[in-house]
Amino acid sequence: MRHAASETEEKEKKRVGSYQIAVIPGDGIGQEVIPEGLKAIRTLEDIVPSLKVDFESFPWGSDYYRDHGVMMPGSGLKTLEDFDAIYFGAVGDPPRLPDHITLNGLILPIRKGFQQYACIRPAKLLPGAPCPLAGKTPADIDFAVVRENTEGEYADAGGWVHRGYPHELAIQTAVFTRTGCERIIRFAFELARKRNQKKKVTSVTKSNAQKYSMVFWDEIFNEVAADYPDITTDSNLVDAAAMNFVRQPEVFDVLVASNLFADILTDLGAVIMGGMGFAPSANLNPERTYPSMFESVHGSAPDIKGQGIANPLATIWAGQMMLDFLGEEDAAARLLKALETHVEKGTVSTPDLGGASSTSEVGDNICTILRQQAA
Ligand code: NAI
Ligand code: MG
Repeated sequence: MRHAASETEEKEKKRVGSYQIAVIPGDGIGQEVIPEGLKAIRTLEDIVPSLKVDFESFPWGSDYYRDHGVMMPGSGLKTLEDFDAIYFGAVGDPPRLPDHITLNGLILPIRKGFQQYACIRPAKLLPGAPCPLAGKTPADIDFAVVRENTEGEYADAGGWVHRGYPHELAIQTAVFTRTGCERIIRFAFELARKRNQKKKVTSVTKSNAQKYSMVFWDEIFNEVAADYPDITTDSNLVDAAAMNFVRQPEVFDVLVASNLFADILTDLGAVIMGGMGFAPSANLNPERTYPSMFESVHGSAPDIKGQGIANPLATIWAGQMMLDFLGEEDAAARLLKALETHVEKGTVSTPDLGGASSTSEVGDNICTILRQQAA
């Protein structure tokens, strides 16, 4: 639960359009793309007078780990608890630190601790973005993957025994609870209603091979579906879903899947919408008891870090989702329009899109477009 804040603090918080945002740039290109998202939101503050955002940055991540032996302080979640949202870069510093330390020490505790159980990852091909699928247009690729974000295959349950012996064994247990499945599936149906497009939810499982957890999921999916007669349903095995992302992405509207399946599918979703440089992600606590977190789908990209060439569009887009979730619909709509215009023009782009522009030139261009469109 949130701390009891003093009355003045409460008043300050309730000031319309005023937000306290915790910023965690993290590792690698996270530190390069986050400033571009902040730039865009600062520009929007000039354009939308009621919008007031205070950012507080936290230096948590792999460098912090080398100095302190932890990815974030033990009080990290307590510190973040009173913010309205968290804007996150990326985490991961391979090969210097193993991923199970870096991810388990920072991003996963935030997602789980703050019950950010609904991860929304849109796959939307903007006009001008390079789609690797022959014959597919922006009309064909516009869907959202809803990822269960707190349990399933990433529940952190298991054991590793008899280390070093020939009979050594490891067990990683997936955890599916009725509460966890029901709330994420319901969230997907609500999203399909809100999107008001094809009004369809596709459940992704592997029930032919995983007859306990996945059949359990299917049963709950059918129960929840009965409450939404206006929404069409479909069910794909995860391998078939992967095929359909490539073969017929136009059949999808909202997909709902477990933590692992949706994690894998959304890298594919990112590629069909133009590449890792495009795909945003929102980790939502829909009840708003805790702050939600906004980030890109991509990681820290060690292969290009420090070169100033990372594509910041995914992180800027995640900032757009943050504004939308906070209820700043005008600012969010302006930012989405600026992103669309930027991509359609295609004159300023980073090397992943075949351009020669830097990360900050892309951010600057988005700000210029925001100002032009407001004039
Ligand atoms: P990655 O997403 O960081 O990179 C995959 C490929 O896409 C690389 O070739 C990279 O250069 C390219 N790429 C990614 N984002 C880009 C951008 N904005 N602009 C241009 N090119 C971009 O995935 P990878 O290499 O598997 O993982 C690197 C590290 O990131 C690992 O430690 C991994 O665990 C971590 N990771 C962290 C995530 C997070 O913080 N939420 C998510 C995914 C991975
Ligand atoms: Mg991933």
